[in-house]
Amino acid sequence: MLAFFFIIGLSFLVMASTLINMLGDYLFDVRIQGDRAGLEKWAVQAADELSNKNAKGIDEVIRKAGSELGGRVLLLDKDGKVQYDSFHQAMGQRLHYPEVTSILVSGQSTDYGIHSLVSGEAVSRFNLLGFAQADEWASYSTAGIIQSSHVIGVLLLVSSVREMMNSLLSLQNNMILLFAGVALAAVLAGLIFTRVLTQPISEMTRVIQSMAKGDLGVRARVRGSGEIRQLAVAFNTMSDQLEALNQSRNQFVSNASHELKTPLATMKIMIESLIYQPDMDAELRTEFLGDVNQEINRLSSIVSDLLTLVHADSRTTRLNRERMSLAEVVKDTQHRLTPIAEQNKQVLTLSLQDSCDMYADKAKLQQVVYNLMENAVKYTPAGGQIKVGLQRVGRDAVLTVEDNGPGIPRDSIPHVFERFYRVDKARGRGTGGTGLGLSIVQQYVNLHGGNVKVESQEGQGAVFTVELPLNKG
Ligand SMILES: Nc1ncnc2c1ncn2[C@@H]1O[C@H](COP(=O)(O)OP(=O)(O)OP(=O)(O)O)[C@@H](O)[C@H]1O
Ligand SMILES: [Mg+2]
Repeated sequence: MLAFFFIIGLSFLVMASTLINMLGDYLFDVRIQGDRAGLEKWAVQAADELSNKNAKGIDEVIRKAGSELGGRVLLLDKDGKVQYDSFHQAMGQRLHYPEVTSILVSGQSTDYGIHSLVSGEAVSRFNLLGFAQADEWASYSTAGIIQSSHVIGVLLLVSSVREMMNSLLSLQNNMILLFAGVALAAVLAGLIFTRVLTQPISEMTRVIQSMAKGDLGVRARVRGSGEIRQLAVAFNTMSDQLEALNQSRNQFVSNASHELKTPLATMKIMIESLIYQPDMDAELRTEFLGDVNQEINRLSSIVSDLLTLVHADSRTTRLNRERMSLAEVVKDTQHRLTPIAEQNKQVLTLSLQDSCDMYADKAKLQQVVYNLMENAVKYTPAGGQIKVGLQRVGRDAVLTVEDNGPGIPRDSIPHVFERFYRVDKARGRGTGGTGLGLSIVQQYVNLHGGNVKVESQEGQGAVFTVELPLNKG
């Protein structure tokens, strides 16, 4: 801002002094022209009177010239001696002004100069503005008195430059005042401007600092318009996301620890009974050890699911795409699940209308299909029906997994894809679920650029639908 004012101030000063100089030049020029024309006219008349040797006439001419030209008029003979003076004071004095000599010696017809009234010394008019007392300065104009092409004398006009100087000085003062006013206004405007500009930014900085200290609830004040407003809005959106992320991370960690703690607690109880009851009968001991083994399986499956999710979360996850048929994957999965379905006396039917050949990550899609079909088998009671359909719709492969089990209550539907979410906590644990299966399904389907949704009514089964683009990759 300082540099800005410096540049503006400097250019103003340069402009103002140029303007004053130009105006001064103009005023002087006008003055010189006027004085010269007037003097020349009176010099002709004085020459006439001089040739007539009419002293009274000459006196009259000098007096009239003085009053018309607004100054003191003197008539000098060819030696530079004053013969007539409209002020009647300098009679007989010899004047050595350069303006007089230039006419008498150099033969110029007119001349002009500025002199100090006190010392009589000539000065350049460019020095005049520096002096406040314009009264002390006068302009000396001379014109030769010519008779039959001989210079017989000089007419000298001494007049005050006060008026002219005054107008120039007042112009200069006005300029200084104007400059001061403009500078003051500019400084004020600059201060207000920087305040308006920097205040929202420093406010934002404070918000960011308190956020960095861990208070994720603070938000920037959205005000004004333009960039600052956009910045505040963008910042608040980012903060919202950050807060939500932080919340879901906390939730995730607490859910994960809880899930890991439960099997550990169960195992601890069983192992303690084994330690403190050495005489426990062999059958019960085997049963306990079997249970411990089951809990270990559970723990390791939770850990591997968590690892899967963490991997899928990181942006760097790459799909190992290969040519594959989704229909084959469904058939393989049916093969793997048939023994359990048979055990549950469930009917598992496939209706594959297209082989849905695609270029995708086979292992991940196997997991998707397995998790969905496993859920259907797991949550549908004995004697239930499970139908898996696959067809091509437009550019998508559409997989549906339908069952006639208990379905999912309306208010649970939005949550089933969340990590660790189980509709019926007790039922879930009973059937060995951790609530991570559908999260993995959603992650993998999204990675492939597809989407998954569920439709269900409580008590009337559920339909999971996966849409996967066929021509990706
Ligand atoms: N076909 C279905 N019928 C009824 N409820 C279901 C069905 N599929 C999922 N759910 C409900 O959605 C919840 C979440 O399913 P998800 O597959 O994510 O977890 P899980 O099956 O409990 O555990 P995991 O799959 O990790 O072993 C389940 O606990 C269950 O309550
Ligand atoms: Mg599951």
